[in-house]
Amino acid sequence: MFSKAYSAAVHGIDAVMISVEADISDGLPIFDMVGYLASEVKEARERVRIALKNAGYHIPAKRITVNLSPADIRKEGTAFDLPVAIAILTALGHLPQEDLKGTLIVGELSLNGNVNKVNGVLPIVYEAKERGYERCIIPKENAGEGAVVSGIRTYGVASLSEAVELLSGRASRKEEAIDLDTLFEQANQEDGMDFCEVAGQRAAKRAIEIAVSGLHNILMIGPPGSGKTMLAKRIPTIMPELSFEESMELSKIYSIAGLMNQQALIVRRPFRSPHHTITTTALIGGGRIPKPGEISLAHHGVLFLDELPEFQKNAIEVLRQPLEEKAVTVARLGASYQYPASCMLVAAMNPCSCGYYPDRNRCDCSINMVKRYLGRISQPLLDRFDICIEALQMNYQDLHGGGPQESSQEIRKRVEIARQMQLERYRGQKIYFNSQLTPKTIKKYCRLNSAEQSLLEEAFVKLNLSARAYHRILKVARTIADLEQSERITSKHISEAICYRSIDQKYWGE
Ligand SMILES: Nc1ncnc2c1ncn2[C@@H]1O[C@H](COP(=O)(O)OP(=O)(O)O)[C@@H](O)[C@H]1O
Ligand SMILES: [Mg+2]
Ligand SMILES: [Zn+2]
Repeated sequence: MFSKAYSAAVHGIDAVMISVEADISDGLPIFDMVGYLASEVKEARERVRIALKNAGYHIPAKRITVNLSPADIRKEGTAFDLPVAIAILTALGHLPQEDLKGTLIVGELSLNGNVNKVNGVLPIVYEAKERGYERCIIPKENAGEGAVVSGIRTYGVASLSEAVELLSGRASRKEEAIDLDTLFEQANQEDGMDFCEVAGQRAAKRAIEIAVSGLHNILMIGPPGSGKTMLAKRIPTIMPELSFEESMELSKIYSIAGLMNQQALIVRRPFRSPHHTITTTALIGGGRIPKPGEISLAHHGVLFLDELPEFQKNAIEVLRQPLEEKAVTVARLGASYQYPASCMLVAAMNPCSCGYYPDRNRCDCSINMVKRYLGRISQPLLDRFDICIEALQMNYQDLHGGGPQESSQEIRKRVEIARQMQLERYRGQKIYFNSQLTPKTIKKYCRLNSAEQSLLEEAFVKLNLSARAYHRILKVARTIADLEQSERITSKHISEAICYRSIDQKYWGE
């Protein structure tokens, strides 16, 4: 007897459909699985055989062949266990073939017949809906991810027997459901952190507001305890709320990485803060069974590299290209795909190994030591930061004397206006933020009058700026003007943008 079940595999952040055919015929009693399988898929044979037995099914001494197709896609992971078991049961006559039509099945089996969670359920259910499937049978623990896709019925099952009962129609079940509005509302309510908790630091807050508005990467330099980490952690709170589409895209990434933790959808902007001992692969993604890295987990949010000089040089250098392209390309076994990685890079560092340079009362690092420490950040990497600021140590007065501070919500309102200006200006051009402007588009959108032009020229000579610095100043000035809803870039905007450039000049300049 022959049967066919339907399943799917993750490819990049999307899913591809896989059919699982089972054939049972007379002959030597063997169980064979074919179809370009990774080792863990081959091991499905043992899991499925024992799970079937423990679920009370008798497997006759016959020749069982399972084929996963299409043949040109390498099958990885353990999500095929359940569809393989179901295909075998169907070939044995325990389920009618019609029950499998229009039904997509994924799940890992444990030896006792329980169904375990798998990665990538969200993109799989999403693709199944796009392909016109009517229902999905998924692991109970992934039920939330299935429920967020509308237009398809999904059912979470905890065991093989439950899946069989559901398929045969013996047990009537309600499909998984979730209230998305409530989910988004909750996300916007519960959040402890707020910029109003940060006393003073007006200049730093202003720079951060500009950075978030134009999605400029920002580097904060300053002594320990000056509040760099505290400021960074609050950056997502002034970003506009995630749209449903953004949330869906982000959730697909988390689903594939196996980080959904029974949530249905990621509804908050991510803040990822990997430790400096992180490996290159964990940072940008890839690996034997490819997974999105931190830069993709920070998609639509913030990637925070605290203590930047402590990171492995290679790890941060490989970040440069994905930061520019806003995606990571993973190439393997003839196929290649992209993980989205449109994040804002925020980095913090001390100016020297003791942390207190240039305060000579506290720092006795030699100039060479300071240079060597700062030199861990290469010029090309430094060029990725449009904005560089100093976080200054606050004195007691600043910390306790200041009046009430502006809330994140108030700052976010201004950010939203600046974002809107950019969306309208760049409509239809695949540019969303000023930080994405290229030298060519800068010419078009950052036109200067002669007065501003000469101001910039003067700074250029005085500060000994590179061409890259010149472009960065213009992009940042564009954002500063957008915050004021001004189409024209004025001298005031240029001067402020130059300040964010002269700080890295102060530390790294000759
Ligand atoms: N501007 C500030 N307002 C309120 N608390 C502050 C401020 N700056 C620093 N702190 C306090 O000091 C602690 C250390 O700051 P932190 O952000 O860790 O500094 P850094 O990362 O620069 O070493 C914070 O957790 C916070 O309690
Ligand atoms: Mg810190
Ligand atoms: Zn020092």
